[in-house]
Amino acid sequence: MTNNTPQWNNWPAGFIWGSATAAAQVEGAAREDGKQDSVWDAFAAVPGNVLNGDTPATAVDHYHRMPQDVALMKELGLDSYRFSTSWARVRPGGGALNPKGLDFYSRLVDELLEAGILPWLTLYHWDLPQGLEEKGGWTNRDTACRFVEYAQDVYSVLGDRVKNWTTFNEPFCSSLLGYGSGVHAPGRQEPRSAIAAVHHQHLAHGMAVTELRSLGAEQLGITLNLSNSIPKDPTDPVDQEAARLFDSLQNRIFLDPILRGAYPEDSLRDLEPFGLHEVILPGDMELIAAPIDFLGVNHYHDDMISGHPNSTGADGHGGGSGKATASCWIGAEHITFPSRGLPRTAMDWEVNPDGLRRLLVRLGEEYPTLPPLYVTENGAAYDDDVSADGSVPDPERTRYILDHIAAVGRAIESGADVRGYFVWSLLDNFEWSWGYSKRFGIVRVDYDTQARTIKDSGLTYGRLIAASRAAG
Ligand code: NOJ
Repeated sequence: MTNNTPQWNNWPAGFIWGSATAAAQVEGAAREDGKQDSVWDAFAAVPGNVLNGDTPATAVDHYHRMPQDVALMKELGLDSYRFSTSWARVRPGGGALNPKGLDFYSRLVDELLEAGILPWLTLYHWDLPQGLEEKGGWTNRDTACRFVEYAQDVYSVLGDRVKNWTTFNEPFCSSLLGYGSGVHAPGRQEPRSAIAAVHHQHLAHGMAVTELRSLGAEQLGITLNLSNSIPKDPTDPVDQEAARLFDSLQNRIFLDPILRGAYPEDSLRDLEPFGLHEVILPGDMELIAAPIDFLGVNHYHDDMISGHPNSTGADGHGGGSGKATASCWIGAEHITFPSRGLPRTAMDWEVNPDGLRRLLVRLGEEYPTLPPLYVTENGAAYDDDVSADGSVPDPERTRYILDHIAAVGRAIESGADVRGYFVWSLLDNFEWSWGYSKRFGIVRVDYDTQARTIKDSGLTYGRLIAASRAAG
């Protein structure tokens, strides 16, 4: 397959081609129209937390350039745009509703619909109002109730025009990385708090699904970051045990409560010393398992796992997003991530498109109640630049995206019910603790001028969408 020729073009009718961003990563306008700090504003203000002292204060100024950005989406031919609403804009400090903040999203949705683009809304992409963090954040069970109020506000204004509602994006990161390893906001290194955060985010998800359903929402789901956990030596009991633990913490403690109504038995055992039993109250698991209409899957790379501390080639594992230290593997600090010698992106994440196929197929095999799947994020950071002729050649990203899309096609051929694919990301943006140093966009942003240029990967993706439409 060349970069310009998609190999497989048998996509199911109505397959959705999209691209994604998140509020804190693109909007900027951190203190405008009543917005107050989110945990990411506060975290980034502390020297040493984010590379080069970068902050989300301006990001890529999407708040002011939104109509131009929607025009770019239209030029690319996107079916759908996945974005998140900022809780700290809608309810600054976690307090009273700020109609001006909500108005931005109302205008965005109108602009999208006008351009024929389906809005795909996420309510929580990691930017808890700092005011709520000061009351305990996700360690405080009450935060789940505050989340439902915020969800109701957003639904009350956008529910007439937005069909697809995602509660949480990658709760793994905002619980285990935020409260466990501390490499994400709020930067706490407290294993018991991290486990409480996992459970309270689950609870917030389930309660919001129930509430929005009662208000009339028809398409409700959650997005999880999932990865195949591959024991380095499948015959070695030490590697097998490490891979089991990793799979539990990365995948199953998120999938099982939602899709089976229970934490896995082995996870309950592993996490007892960290207080999981103490935060589960009667009735919680029923709430958490409220039926959903789709599961969003974010996938970037697999993980080869060893339980041997000095396993050769241990690498800078990314833990799903951003920097991660072993301490987010609560109770599994001995896990190492040996290298398989595969090519790597600028995040140091290995490139192995078949892992995405395997993951999508495996989900259907392991979860009988699995709803339809959408790949809500997949993409790659590589360095790129504007050439003399004004183009932005990014052959590695282009290859990565095409190969992963081909893997989605193979998963569908094997029976996986995948209904859409969203590239991460529409625009270069604030990559959390990596600041602006990692570029994921299919559109390049010049951070000095905020000028946007569609990269070759974006042009190729646009052609692929057009070809898929023509074939359908
Ligand atoms: C997952 C997150 O949802 C997104 O915010 C992040 O930028 C990408 N992965 C890349 O790390």
